[in-house]
Amino acid sequence: MCGIVGYIGAREAFPVILKGLERLEYRGYDSAGIALYNKGIIELCKTKGKVADLRAKADKEGVVNGSIGIGHTRWATHGEPNDQNAHPHYSNSGDLAIIHNGIIENYASIKEALINRGYEFHSDTDTEVLVNLIEDVKTNENVKLGKAVQIALNQVVGAYAIAVFDRTKPDEIVVAKLGSPLAIGVGEDEFFIASDASPFIEYTNNAIYLEDEQMAIVKRGRDVRVRQVRSDKPVNPYVQELKMNLEQIEKGGYDHFMLKEIYEQPEAIKDTYRGRLRINDGIVKMAGVEDNLGKFLNAKRIIIVACGTSWHAGLVAEYIFEELMRIPVEVEYASEFRYRNPVITQDDVVIAISQSGETADTLAAIKLSKEKGAFVFGVCNVVGSSISRETHAGAYTHAGPEIGVASTKAFTTQITVLTLIALKLAKSTGKITHSEFHNYLAELETIPVKVQETLKTDAHVATIADIYKDATNCLYLGRGYNFPVALEGALKLKEISYIHAEGYPAAEMKHGPIALIDEQMPVVVIATKKGHYEKVVSNVQEIKSRKGKIIAVVTQGDKDVSKLADHVIEVPETHELLTPLLTTIPLQLLSYHIAVMRGCNVDQPRNLAKSVTVE
Ligand code: F6R
Repeated sequence: MCGIVGYIGAREAFPVILKGLERLEYRGYDSAGIALYNKGIIELCKTKGKVADLRAKADKEGVVNGSIGIGHTRWATHGEPNDQNAHPHYSNSGDLAIIHNGIIENYASIKEALINRGYEFHSDTDTEVLVNLIEDVKTNENVKLGKAVQIALNQVVGAYAIAVFDRTKPDEIVVAKLGSPLAIGVGEDEFFIASDASPFIEYTNNAIYLEDEQMAIVKRGRDVRVRQVRSDKPVNPYVQELKMNLEQIEKGGYDHFMLKEIYEQPEAIKDTYRGRLRINDGIVKMAGVEDNLGKFLNAKRIIIVACGTSWHAGLVAEYIFEELMRIPVEVEYASEFRYRNPVITQDDVVIAISQSGETADTLAAIKLSKEKGAFVFGVCNVVGSSISRETHAGAYTHAGPEIGVASTKAFTTQITVLTLIALKLAKSTGKITHSEFHNYLAELETIPVKVQETLKTDAHVATIADIYKDATNCLYLGRGYNFPVALEGALKLKEISYIHAEGYPAAEMKHGPIALIDEQMPVVVIATKKGHYEKVVSNVQEIKSRKGKIIAVVTQGDKDVSKLADHVIEVPETHELLTPLLTTIPLQLLSYHIAVMRGCNVDQPRNLAKSVTVE
């Protein structure tokens, strides 16, 4: 959580940093600030609120000039969101300014020691403690900023991506990373620092991604010197060429990133299977799987670890893997798994799913699984992310940047990748025949067109949203492959519209939730043909007899459910195993429209952040 940006070069730093912060707002948006070096002083502008509030404040107070600066958009951990706790923070002398994404766990004891040495604190943050610790080391040991940062970081426990500069030596920014992401954009005689590449992609395609426990001294007009924080060993920085472009991270005419990303799904799914799904050759090509085929084929069990929407994708994958591969699969919340001393053996394959590749709990679950000897495979969207580096092997979803805080295209592309893996492995073990394999591939290839067709329900879904926008509760029901879709539909609604929603396996309704149903209760039922269709029809009848309002997602041409439901949304027919890729779409649109109609901030829902880098 929190987004950090820095600039050092010949341009005016303020507009570069401000625009960068806007792009990183998905990481946190409860306060924002910028510090710039200007003729011997550090000019600071920070405020509670969003980057737009910072822009307004800077306009009012007069924009400061400077060609070196740092900026931050915050998701509060220590201290409530207010002006004092907003970053950047100064050291007591006013010489050092810092921005920080992460948590310093032992900040309280360090703060106490610094107070005993006469330091004063003006915020409740762990970050202000860190910048004063750096200052204390710098003064007492009489070392340069880089060395002081290194010594200080060896005293802290926790996670950090930091950028710090010194008013008395304004030709460098010192950065370091552990647990939170940090990229350095390498331009012509200029450098950019950011939590991801989006703030600098219009200036340069070249980036260095720091590894954990690495720090760098970024020198104006010169170079980037990378070292290990613990051992002080120099590291040769690897400059990557990025494939991302500016268009991908802008709204492209849509009102919200979420809507843009919902509409991108046909293309995103195609990008996910492009080059992998080769119908003519009768193969699925995935290097990460092929190189480790033995691990997968000898596995006695697959454990899937993830959080939130990615966990829901994991649940869909559980049904798919068990059906196609006949191997036991367990799907775990990473946050529970990491702390409950789970039984993990060398015969397990652990699949970690994460859009951002930075989720702290998922990362910890991966480390634990590796320690216990399991083979760990990552399914990530963000290239070069911590999870993609920490896992033994993996497959990217190639969904493109997902900026809206509510995950949409990440979910469908994760399911696509996991389906490809399951098909590849089932074919390798002979669990499915060549013709079954071929049929699945052929059907998967039709999914982008079918998603496109499903998106045509948008206007109809908006009329349903208008009817239920004032609901206070909502139930989502599904069975089999569509039970996780019910969970995902409920999560989407609650996170962006703040309506309480629950997802349930349809048959579980009788064991409690049915008591909630009355004429006020909208119930979204996923009732596509095949699978347990007749059973779902019975469930729909049970809701109807209790006067619940039924919004049914059905297969085109459906008669039975359509007779009973108050509203029907049709999706094209597909193989049962692939239905989540279609049934999810109207649920995303429903929550989107309801949230917009309720006046909610769809792309930046309250209290949330896109990338949960704290546990
Ligand atoms: C919900 C949502 C979150 C994320 C979760 C995991 O719309 O976006 O529930 O799915 O925080 O994030 P990743 O996939 O980045 O590990």
